[in-house]
Formats: sequence, structure tokens, C-alpha cells
Amino acid sequence: MSLEIIEKIEKIYSKTVTLVSEGDLKFCEYISDKNKIFIKKMMEKNSFTGKKGDKLEVSFLEGDSLIAILFLGTGKKENLNRDIMRDVIYNGLKDVTGDILIGSEDKELIDLEIIGEVAEHIDYKFDKYMSEKKDKKLNISYFMEKNDVDVIEGKELGKIINIVRDLINEPACVITPAKLAEEAEKLGKEFGFEVEILDEKEAEKLEMKAFLAVGRASVNRPKVIVMRYQGDTASKERIGLVGKGLTYDTGGLSLKPTSSMLDMKTDMGGAATVIGTMCALAKMKIKKNVTAVVAACENAIGSNAYRPGDIIGSMNGKTIEVTNTDAEGRLTLADALTYIIRKENVDEVIDAATLTGAIMVALGDNVTGVFSNSDVNYKKLETAGKYWGEKYWQMPIFEEYKDIIKSDVADLKNSAGRLAGSITAAKFLEEFVEDKPWMHLDIAGTAFSEKNGKYFKKGATGQVVRTLYSYIKG
Ligand code: BES
Ligand code: MN
Ligand code: ZN
Repeated sequence: MSLEIIEKIEKIYSKTVTLVSEGDLKFCEYISDKNKIFIKKMMEKNSFTGKKGDKLEVSFLEGDSLIAILFLGTGKKENLNRDIMRDVIYNGLKDVTGDILIGSEDKELIDLEIIGEVAEHIDYKFDKYMSEKKDKKLNISYFMEKNDVDVIEGKELGKIINIVRDLINEPACVITPAKLAEEAEKLGKEFGFEVEILDEKEAEKLEMKAFLAVGRASVNRPKVIVMRYQGDTASKERIGLVGKGLTYDTGGLSLKPTSSMLDMKTDMGGAATVIGTMCALAKMKIKKNVTAVVAACENAIGSNAYRPGDIIGSMNGKTIEVTNTDAEGRLTLADALTYIIRKENVDEVIDAATLTGAIMVALGDNVTGVFSNSDVNYKKLETAGKYWGEKYWQMPIFEEYKDIIKSDVADLKNSAGRLAGSITAAKFLEEFVEDKPWMHLDIAGTAFSEKNGKYFKKGATGQVVRTLYSYIKG
């Protein structure tokens, strides 16, 4: 569940986990010489050399106490980095339960950031609706004579990411636009950022016509969630975040088949991501000013639903021919982008959206596709991602692609068929970013996973929050 730093060993732990590096096996002081020989023999017998992934559990009697040590090999010390450390800790502890004490005779092998991060995720489960909960609870303690650690960023971000995962995993019958707004308000109070909710009437006054067209047929009415964090009052600079907040996407009248609709409660993954990023920035008191906007609604069907063939307006003024009501995300994002640029006066904008199935065809489910008019910002994002083991890939936004979204009857059309599906979606958004540096993260593949991943069990992953946090922190 969690990593705690303790200054006194007061309870009995089910086991001690000890990290050892290859070719440099060091044991704890308190182990008697006789037991050290026993451990060495056991290691030889089991070909344990401390290679990355090596695991060996040894139990022995030390005085009157039965000691159980799980040795985890980290590989050669000179090769060690955050990614390897994460692998070692995650794979080493994934089947371990109970209260354990982690340590090493070599303090350089202990990375509290990674242990803190992994500890939060290793037994995460969205099981609140299960009558019988299979709990796998792991509590990790680390002993330090004098606890001089201020905050463990990995642990705090891990906790926030689990909140994000809960928001995404909750079904659409629970997370409606109003409920999402309420959750954002709660988190704003808890972590320390301002939240303003605009209702439909206010959105109408702002002429957010594209957004309102998408949300028109649902009984769960649209809400615009505006979150403001002021970490640097001396600066006028402000970064803008926009998250796609479709609390459910039926496809609208261009109705999705059941199999594609099944996971569409996750279509607010971008919204959860930016909400989580705001929590992280506020929690860590980062000296930056950031505003996040979510235009939350549900893409439903009904007699007043917007239709294929409709021509709709937008807050920006551009007109849009609706060629497919399932290409709804870009319509809501277009108005959210205009709102954040014109009303919140941001200098730069980043959006995160479960925007296209096509991004999964292109990059699979573990790499986020990024579209940007600033290569410099993209590089910064990629670097921030590497630090946390999250993967990004820059996609092209050549001018040629613009032709595909031109319409015969309006300024733009919202869908242009199968060719370059993720790119044309990004080109559509680019039409609404005015002259601002902009980055669009298509997280349709990475927000949610159908199978257990390298560090995540199936379901919402909460990826991207850490990267955005580090990108903004700078
Ligand atoms: N929300 C979907 C994209 C999506 C697909 C997210 C799968 C997560 C998993 C989006 O609104 C959508 O329906 N996109 C269409 C666009 C098409 C109609 C141009 C798609 O990808 O098929
Ligand atoms: Mn859709
Ligand atoms: Zn959608």
C-alpha cells in the first residue's frame, strides 16, 4: 500500500527484503558468521549472483528469532538506473504481501522515490464494487536512524495517480459531468487549487457551440470545469492544460458497436489526467501558474442529438460540418482551447485526450502520440517522460494534412475518414490554438490497458500525470 520511513523497529515484519548488486554481495551486520556462510551456500546452490531479476528467499534462526530474507538482485551497480530499479522493485515485490522491511547494506541501491512509487501501485485494485475483495496488501517500511527525508515525490505522485485511476475506472453512471466537477472541487480543496464550475447557461453565453452540440442529448448536463493554481504570484506567465472530458462516448447518432462502446467510460481520461496534474503541482507547491480546463459532457443519443450533416459554430467563430458524431472529442476540445486561450490568457497550452482509436493502431497501447507546433517543448516533454519511464513519440502535423479536414459547406469538417486518423484530429485542434505554443497528447492507447502491463494491472493506468508534472516543474 505505502512506504513508511521508520526510526525505530517496533514490530515484527513478515520478511526483510534486501537489495544486492551483482558481484558485490553484502549482508547485514547483525547476521552471524555461521548464517552468512549458510546464506552464501544457499546462493551458490540456487545460482543467485545478484543479476537483475535474481530472487532468493532464505530463512534461518538468528538467536531465538526466525529471520526470513528475500534477496533481490539489481544487476551491476554501474548499470543501475531508475528504469532498472523500478523493474527490480516491481517484479521483486509483486507477489509479496504483509508488512515488510526493505533495506540494503549498500545505501546506493536504495531509491526511495522508486520504492515509494511502486509501493503505491503494486496492490492498486479497483474493487469497490466487488462483494469479495481479494486484498493483496503490502506495507513497506524503510529504517533510518534519523528520518531526514522531506517528501518522497514518487510516493505522493503515486497516491495522486491512484486517485486519477479511480476516476477513470468509475463507470459513467457514477461519473457524470456534474459528478466530475464535484470531484474536481473536492480535490481542489484537499490539495489547494481554485475550482470554478460553469454551467450550460454560462457556456451558452460564451458561445461554446461545438461543445454544447456534443452534450445536447444527454440528461447529464454539460459542465465546464476551470481549475486555477497560482504557485508564483510574482510571475505573469501561465501554462494551460486542457483535458478531454467525455464522461461517456456512445458515438452519438454515428453509434458505436457495443464492443467499442464498452470502455467508453474512460473517455474522460484526459480530464482525470489534468485534474491529477493540478493536484500534484499544488501538493508539491511548484512555483508555476497553471490553469486547467475540462469541457465535460456525455456524447449520447436522443431526438435532440446533433446529427451527421449538421453545421455547427464554435467559440472561436469557425464553422464545422459534422461528418461523424463519434468524432466528438475534438469539438469539445476546440471550445476548451479557445476558452483557455482567450479567457484564461495562458501563454502555452497542452491538451490530453483519449482522442482516436487510430493512435493505438499507430503506436500500440504503451506509447503516447504527441503533436506539437513546438519541437523544443516536445523534447522537454520527452525528457520528463523518460525520467518516469513513460514513453512518448512525436507525430507529424505537415500542412498537407490540413486539406483532409476542409469542408465543402463549412470552414472545417470534424471527421475525414480513416487516412491518418490521429493526425487529422490533431490538425483540427491546431485550428483552435491561435498563435500559442501547443502540444496535443493522444492518450487513447495509454490511459487504459486491457491487459496487465509492465508496472500496471489492467484498467486505468494514470500515465502522463507524472510527465506533465515534471514538464511543468521544469
Ligand atoms: N473516444 C474515442 C476514441 C477512443 C477509441 C478512445 C478507443 C479510447 C479507445 C473517440 O471519440 C472516437 O470515437 N474517435 C473515432 C474518430 C473517428 C470517428 C474519426 C475513432 O477513433 O474511431
Ligand atoms: Mn467518439
Ligand atoms: Zn470520444
